[in-house]
Amino acid sequence: MYYIGIMSGTSLDGVDAVLVDFSVATCSLIGACYIAYDVSLQQDLLALCQRGENELHRAALLANKLAGLYAQAVTQLLEQHAIDPEEIAAIGCHGQTVRHYPQPENQYSIQLINGALLAELTKITTVTDFRSRDIAAGGQGAPLVPAFHQAVFSHSEVHRLIINIGGIANITSLPVADEVSGFDCGPGNMLMDAWCQQHTGQRYDRDGLWARSGKIIYALLENLLRFPYFSLPPPKSTGREMFAIDWLLPYLTGKEAAQDVQATLLQLTVQSIADAVRTCYPTARELYLCGGGAHNSFLVTQLQKQKELSACQIKRTDVLGIEADWVEACAFAWLAQQSMMRVVGNLPAVTGAAGKRVLGAIYPA
Ligand SMILES: Nc1ncnc2c1ncn2[C@@H]1O[C@H](COP(=O)(O)OP(=O)(O)OP(=O)(O)O)[C@@H](O)[C@H]1O
Ligand SMILES: [Mg+2]
Repeated sequence: MYYIGIMSGTSLDGVDAVLVDFSVATCSLIGACYIAYDVSLQQDLLALCQRGENELHRAALLANKLAGLYAQAVTQLLEQHAIDPEEIAAIGCHGQTVRHYPQPENQYSIQLINGALLAELTKITTVTDFRSRDIAAGGQGAPLVPAFHQAVFSHSEVHRLIINIGGIANITSLPVADEVSGFDCGPGNMLMDAWCQQHTGQRYDRDGLWARSGKIIYALLENLLRFPYFSLPPPKSTGREMFAIDWLLPYLTGKEAAQDVQATLLQLTVQSIADAVRTCYPTARELYLCGGGAHNSFLVTQLQKQKELSACQIKRTDVLGIEADWVEACAFAWLAQQSMMRVVGNLPAVTGAAGKRVLGAIYPA
């Protein structure tokens, strides 16, 4: 039996879907597809990330629309590989995060997805709502991928780090003997994407070419890095609520050249990752990148120049058997398998939950 994993992350760029087989190896990636959000869907989702009128109605309609898009991705995968719905054990669908509040005073995380509709459209058992149970147990509900990283990327003799650079950047530590840990380091592509969109009209700065044309404003970088989140001890997770463009604007004088701000934002991502490694994981020797940010060649070059990372070889997860673009979607296929088998999906040491929990809500086919 195969599994399908579907991820749409905080970058609000689109849908990543994978077809995987867990029976032959820990994770054998058979096929993958990507469906980009059109501009109007992206804007509707972005609007729901902030308070606004008639939110419940808009959220419900968007959850339906997303189910349609996710079903389209499933159909594409099945057709490409001539597989019937009955051959899929389950779909693990993360949904689209529009609110993430992990702080104890108002703890919740909302991923838009109509799981019932996705099960109905695909005729495949669908697992969704992976974060709520961990939050109910006092955890952050994030990051959830470290358990999957442990299952597929651990090495018995080398301390490895997996760093996913999506909208937010998150790090997983896979030590040789100690416990697996991880947390959200801070912004990944989110601020760079927003600044680039605002000043160039492009959704993102391809290969970091625009950032490369600017100069890092070190005084600004230092100020940004003083923001308390960066020095907060784990467990910690974050999202658009914290690191949207509104976070940046008060730090600017308005006189900066736009490309210099872009260079500084890229360096903010690099430096916050390097600081996380220096303070938490100095014994790591291998670092594997995944997520869209792994394609930003300037960002990768800057990471390689960081003295805090000089003891680490930096590569992409591709060399470990899963291409950088599909790791997160594979993780949700794996988490669906955990749910179906009633096996623990969270790592309390990562999320801060009171204990191990079986995650997800299951909509049978
Ligand atoms: N060639 C490239 N050069 C620079 N940036 C890129 C390139 N390709 C992708 N990206 C960046 O990657 C982002 C998409 O990455 P990804 O899909 O991993 O993030 P995400 O959807 O936020 O995922 P998640 O939240 O699960 O980590 C784009 O918005 C863009 O910023
Ligand atoms: Mg994405």
